[in-house]
Amino acid sequence: MKLQALFQPRSIAVIGASRREGSIGYMVVKGIIDSKFEGAIYPINPKADEILGIKAYPTMQDVPGEVDLAMLTVPVNAALEASEDAGRKGTKVLAVITSGFGEVGRRDLEEQLVEIGQRYGMAIVGPNIVGILNNPAKANASFSPYLPYPGSIALVSQSGALLIALDGMTWIDKIGISHMISIGNMADLDMADFIDALNEDPNTAAISLYVEGLKDGRKFLDAVKRSAKPVIALKAGTSKRGELATASHTGSLAGSTKVYSAAFKQFGVTIAKHLDELFVRSIALSMMKPLMGDNIAVITNGGGAGVLATDAAERYGIPLLDPPQELKDLFAQWMPAFGSPRNPVDMTGMAARREYKGAVLDALKHPWTDGAAVLYCETAVTDPQDIAEGIYEAYQEAGATKPVVVSYLGGERALKASEWMKSKGVPAYFDPDQAMSALGCLRDYGRYQAHRETSTFMPFDDVNPVKVGEIFAKARSEGRLDLSENEGDAVFQAYGLPVAPFRLAEDAEQAVEAANAIGYPVVVKIASPDILHKTEAKGVKVGLSNVEEVRQATAEVIANAKTYKANAKIDGVLVQKMAPKGGTEVIFGAIKDSTFQQTVMFGLGGIFVEVLKDVTFRVAPVSPQEARKMIAEIAAYPIIKGARGQKPRDEAALAEALSRLSQLVVDFPEIKELDANPVMVYEDGLLIVDSVIKLQ
Ligand code: COA
Repeated sequence: MKLQALFQPRSIAVIGASRREGSIGYMVVKGIIDSKFEGAIYPINPKADEILGIKAYPTMQDVPGEVDLAMLTVPVNAALEASEDAGRKGTKVLAVITSGFGEVGRRDLEEQLVEIGQRYGMAIVGPNIVGILNNPAKANASFSPYLPYPGSIALVSQSGALLIALDGMTWIDKIGISHMISIGNMADLDMADFIDALNEDPNTAAISLYVEGLKDGRKFLDAVKRSAKPVIALKAGTSKRGELATASHTGSLAGSTKVYSAAFKQFGVTIAKHLDELFVRSIALSMMKPLMGDNIAVITNGGGAGVLATDAAERYGIPLLDPPQELKDLFAQWMPAFGSPRNPVDMTGMAARREYKGAVLDALKHPWTDGAAVLYCETAVTDPQDIAEGIYEAYQEAGATKPVVVSYLGGERALKASEWMKSKGVPAYFDPDQAMSALGCLRDYGRYQAHRETSTFMPFDDVNPVKVGEIFAKARSEGRLDLSENEGDAVFQAYGLPVAPFRLAEDAEQAVEAANAIGYPVVVKIASPDILHKTEAKGVKVGLSNVEEVRQATAEVIANAKTYKANAKIDGVLVQKMAPKGGTEVIFGAIKDSTFQQTVMFGLGGIFVEVLKDVTFRVAPVSPQEARKMIAEIAAYPIIKGARGQKPRDEAALAEALSRLSQLVVDFPEIKELDANPVMVYEDGLLIVDSVIKLQ
């Protein structure tokens, strides 16, 4: 609600409005005037009577009317006092352009700023911003030269300089913007607050973000989840590995970029890899409904453009399919005999308005088609504008429900026609790749919309958190944060995860007893809280099939452990049922990420995880449905599905186990990282054979 004052300000004060031409305090006032803001403008300056012809006031207390938005452009040493002044006046939103806060190590100043805001109920944008550019209110309250090209994309940026640069670009590429908001250090209002506010803003259809780093990833994801409008994000900055411990496999695989993109995908944030894509995708999502199925028609007048689009379609996850014969017959009417009614539908170079309109209308009206990409290469025998109008008519006559994107290749005439399309609300691009990227993200968003309701996590109730709590408490009481394998196995068991049966044995005789009870063959592993890398310590013997082998293996691993680490505390050995042959090795993991908190990981074991790092992450908890998507996402998925004559592995069991694991880490935020590795998956069921759990 408070941000309404930001989106629809009736008055704007500039604290630090300057008489000095070209200075920031001067340009902000000039920006507001030049953009034809219709509300009241209050320059605040203790030494000036007027600035740029507008009456100035010495302090905020002297301002006659209410102040919705105040821009702060005084130097940092005067910023806190000026903020107090603004707060006392009852200012609703204070946008702090001033630099010199947290970005230069002065977090303390930032905290004081937030404290002032809280005391007066005044929301704070920034500090360290270029300002706020508000097209609907015609307010350029920034030191960017002018308002952006008008439209319905809201752009929120952590980089101010980038925002200014993009402002100019929106006019060249005719990218329609509602608001451009520089959020700087996010001391108070952050990305999530703006997603919530923009979701309510009638002038915004899509929310576009330039993200460098989020402070509270969960808050961000919750806001995205609430948003009825698409959110598109360009995440800059690569992995902050330093933050992550690398003792577990999961830890070493988790870089922040990987977790960011996993979290974004999971919550339906459209990811853009670069600035161009940010706009390509924002335009599409701000103008079109999502693509609700995979059947797209690509209609073109040139084979080359068609081939490029076909290649791109595959890359963006919407490979072209063969339309039904009756639709191909309809397409055939609109082309000469040497055209092609298959997908891509190539009407060849003479296709004009009539043909384009006919083919696009046939495509959109047919129940098979979910959406269309229309490509046009400029020729001497056709008029790009005329064709654009034909395409637009077809889109309208078909009810404007199925998404259409356009690629117009050519010179000035083509560019003009393409701009006209955009002005009519049809996403139009130059490169067929851009058009397919647009359609691809509309499809991703459609898929997300379709499964959003079905994929809620329902906690399992046959779990035993009390037992887990006891295990953790015992480890802590012994001054340990690393759990032993039998403790880890017991934790997994308490959450209904299938662990290969095991028993702890103090000596060889107990080991034999355990093996007899479990059934052969068994594995004997050293049980010591001081030895995490058991193989390295020669602490594992597999395939033991009788009493004598168990007795001997126990003696050997204990001796090896003592050689490996003389002062290691040795609890004995873990005797575990040998997992049956024929299983596929996978890895489950979990790590507490500094931004998104608990996450879970899945991948194929062995070389796939070691060398190829073929793993996928999700923010926990995950429903079994979401877990199935994780499984299908890894490159080695065909192996799970059953490659080379092998029977498919038990995906349902995998999905349930991942979902249970995600519940475990959510229930126990003190778990810092965890591996179940390897996990053997069979045609029917799975078995965890080793575990690592580290507490915080
Ligand atoms: N209340 C009101 N006005 C005040 C004031 C106060 N408490 N204290 C000073 N002023 C006035 C000054 O008198 C001056 O007006 P004048 O030029 O007419 O005398 C005006 O405020 C500006 O102060 P000045 O000292 O000239 O500041 P400056 O223009 O050199 O720098 C900033 C101010 C905020 C622009 C600068 O400190 C800064 O932070 N720049 C970086 C901004 C930036 O890059 N942001 C992030 C982008 S990503």
